[in-house]
Amino acid sequence: MANLFSFLTGSKKAARPLPADFHSHLIPGIDDGVPTAEEAFRVIDRLLERGYTKLITTPHIMTDYFGNTSSSVTEAYQAFLPVLREAGYDLSFDIAAEYYLDENLYQQALRKEKFLTFGDRYLLFETNPISEPMMLKEFIFQLTTQGYKPIIAHPERYQFMTPEKAQDLRDRGVLLQLNMLSLIGYYGPPIQKLAVKLIDSGMVDALGSDCHHIDHAKLLEKVQATSAYSRAVELPLLNYRL
Ligand SMILES: [Fe+2]
Repeated sequence: MANLFSFLTGSKKAARPLPADFHSHLIPGIDDGVPTAEEAFRVIDRLLERGYTKLITTPHIMTDYFGNTSSSVTEAYQAFLPVLREAGYDLSFDIAAEYYLDENLYQQALRKEKFLTFGDRYLLFETNPISEPMMLKEFIFQLTTQGYKPIIAHPERYQFMTPEKAQDLRDRGVLLQLNMLSLIGYYGPPIQKLAVKLIDSGMVDALGSDCHHIDHAKLLEKVQATSAYSRAVELPLLNYRL
């Protein structure tokens, strides 16, 4: 009846919000995310409007770019947090990282170095966008045997990704986190198509905003209006359990 009523009145069912987001670049000036605290506030305002109450922001840690390390990222967060509170924001706001898988990161995993994680030892990582890294499976093995719970960022955006490879990653203990903007074709039609396929195969474990700037944040409303988003939020996403 509600659906018939909505159809007759033309009113749209409100998009189900997600409580937590754990992929964004909101520590000012330390990666290719927001350059200033003011822009971080603008993005956070939008995320609050979209229904989020908990943010775990994830600056890039890449050997060859930005110069970030687990400790420098934590220090930058500790410097920003009082600024955020001073501006009147009382939302839950934590820090983790988006690690880029390269030889250096792999060696750190082999040496059992401590990584920045969130929740129950969740670790967000990304890979080379074009070809599958040779050490990907061994890296995952290292992480899982050390008690980490790896999450691969935006699997739909890697050129080497297929539904079969996505399933294999999940079988190895990796959670799949889609970028929300993929659902509106922001990164192109093939990426949108794979994203929808992963949702409809029930292989999506989390959604991430991956907000780098205000333009990303502005598009989230459009994402929430898509049918693919409505189907994704019916899955048992990690976004509900943090
Ligand atoms: Fe990211």
